[in-house]
Amino acid sequence: MNIQHFDDDAALSAALATRVLEDIVAGPSLVLGLPTGRTPLGLYRELRERSGGDRVPWSQVRTFNLDEFAGLGASDPQSYRAFMQAELFDHVSIPPAHIGFLDGTAPNLEAECRRYERAIAAAGGIDLQILGIGASGHIGFNEPAERLCARTHVAELEQATRLANAQRFGGDWRKVPERALSMGMATILSARAIVLLATGREKTDAVRGTVEGMITTQLPASLLQLHSRVTVMVDREAWSG
Ligand code: GLP
Repeated sequence: MNIQHFDDDAALSAALATRVLEDIVAGPSLVLGLPTGRTPLGLYRELRERSGGDRVPWSQVRTFNLDEFAGLGASDPQSYRAFMQAELFDHVSIPPAHIGFLDGTAPNLEAECRRYERAIAAAGGIDLQILGIGASGHIGFNEPAERLCARTHVAELEQATRLANAQRFGGDWRKVPERALSMGMATILSARAIVLLATGREKTDAVRGTVEGMITTQLPASLLQLHSRVTVMVDREAWSG
């Protein structure tokens, strides 16, 4: 794993935005895998600010987000889709048809997961998958467990994960859906390159386990050690606690 150290979130976000924008300019039909959460907010702010006008050719870019809450769709303000619209998609010239997203309101969630895998394959696979990490070491909604799902699936959320997501639900973790749809570990590991972001003290243990620990399904991010092109971008707090 290639570990890149930054003083703080702002420096990390600026460096990653530079990489993403350079990748888009080098290959305008880039397929991006995108995360939600607090960690990528700085990245999306930088991308918004640096994409003004027609400065960046977003028109051929395709995106696939990692996950979505079951029961929530684009019109729900708490949905990850709404988060992405507000933070990025509404501010850059990406065509709506190029935005891949899991629909938590689909009548058959298993069929929706299969549709998503087909859509990613039809786009030629993901070129650059950007990931946050939960304090438990989860990525997407692949929670620590004895067994993990390979492909996009319906996931049961741990209470700690619902707590971590409570901010979008008026601070009440009980309002956070109990289930979500998420790319699986093989979906993520199929990306041609992966960048894992970690900022803040609460991520230190998860980061250590990810880069130095044994590979274990009890720390899903540790499976990233199996991939040959992973960059871990950390700020000082996430690295040293
Ligand atoms: C959620 C998301 C993950 C995200 C994680 C960390 O559970 N499903 O994709 O990486 O939280 O979020 P944050 O960046 O807010 O710490």
